[in-house]
Amino acid sequence: MLHGKRILLVIGGGIAAFKSLDLIRRLRERGATVTPVLTRAAEEFVTPLSASALAASKVYRDLFDLTDEAEMGHIELSRAADLIVVAPATADLMAKMAGGHANDLASTLLMATDKRVMIVPAMNVRMWEHPATQRNLATLRGDGILVVGPDEGPMACGEFGPGRMAEVPEIVQAVEAALISGPLTGKRVVVTSGPTHEPIDPVRYIANRSSGAQGTALAAALRDLGADVVFVTGPATVPPPDGVQVVAVETAQQMHDAVLSALPADLAVFAAAVADWRTASQAESKMKKDGSGDVPTLTLTMNPDILAAVAQLDADRRPGLVVGFAAETDDVVSHATAKRARKGCDWIVANDVSAGTGIMGGSENAVTLITQDGAETWERASKDAVARQLAARMAEALGA
Ligand code: CTP
Repeated sequence: MLHGKRILLVIGGGIAAFKSLDLIRRLRERGATVTPVLTRAAEEFVTPLSASALAASKVYRDLFDLTDEAEMGHIELSRAADLIVVAPATADLMAKMAGGHANDLASTLLMATDKRVMIVPAMNVRMWEHPATQRNLATLRGDGILVVGPDEGPMACGEFGPGRMAEVPEIVQAVEAALISGPLTGKRVVVTSGPTHEPIDPVRYIANRSSGAQGTALAAALRDLGADVVFVTGPATVPPPDGVQVVAVETAQQMHDAVLSALPADLAVFAAAVADWRTASQAESKMKKDGSGDVPTLTLTMNPDILAAVAQLDADRRPGLVVGFAAETDDVVSHATAKRARKGCDWIVANDVSAGTGIMGGSENAVTLITQDGAETWERASKDAVARQLAARMAEALGA
């Protein structure tokens, strides 16, 4: 239920705007207070009077109104809500949001808010698939914006494909999920994930087989417990989760810098498979065979150890709980226990990544959790299940 929750509903100008009127009713039925904001284009599709009547609230419109401003300024309006929902989110609204425009009431509210924002895209299939929209979508996801839909099906314009606004029950469910507070609500968490790529020359790099699956599952599980997650990811093969702030990096050095600038945090989890070494220097142009049959020698140098750097920060900057992973192929517990002591972290989640286990790059994991109290071996389970179990333990350890 949504009792006591305040939702600012920005209605964009699209044929799907009529569904937003039903959305207002359904959100109110569940106890939410809904304040509608209509863009200028939205008024071509729904009237302020119907939005106001259904919401039993004042409707904010795209006309600069001195009375409105005096009663509740746009900054205050953007922050008085628990969640801002943009439905329908047109291609134009998404572009404005991704570009940081603030030239009307809706886009100004979206720029000024300090609350979570959910968009419900709705547009013609070609507009949805257009590279510009997909670029904007990736930017918005990276900014931690929640995205619901679009659905696939016949559209008002006669075409078929993705672009239909999600159905109202699906939107209500997503709103409930976004507003439910969990044990980690108000906690800031940094998660590293994926491999890193260390360039040799402009076309070659050193990498590893990490898919990013475990780090992604963990970030989603921590988000589901209410945490604000900063997800620092190398070039992973699985997409990042919704509703987290994504910082995409390539190299270990970039990951190190991104993690340190994401602090302070309550919890830091290092699931990334960071390359230990990088080439001492990178060739500016592609390295060529010189015809002699000689092969080049790569000279490697150490990468910064991100986990150790964070675990060994002074108490005022160090997250309350620092968790590392250990990818081992033999003597898992003894190597991981030594690793915990060497790096100075609180926990190590150790896994056996030897070839026969299928763990690295696979969908399951078998972990041993090493804490100050010793080693605990868990049953092999899906990476999602392991993530949920780990997230629950982390919440418990933070006293949440
Ligand atoms: N890690 C890190 N920065 C590095 C190397 C590793 O933050 N430069 C983190 C990993 O994210 C993981 C933990 O350290 O949480 C252990 O990674 P692992 O590869 O198992 O250990 P290494 O320190 O690389 O030690 P070794 O390769 O000798 O086993």
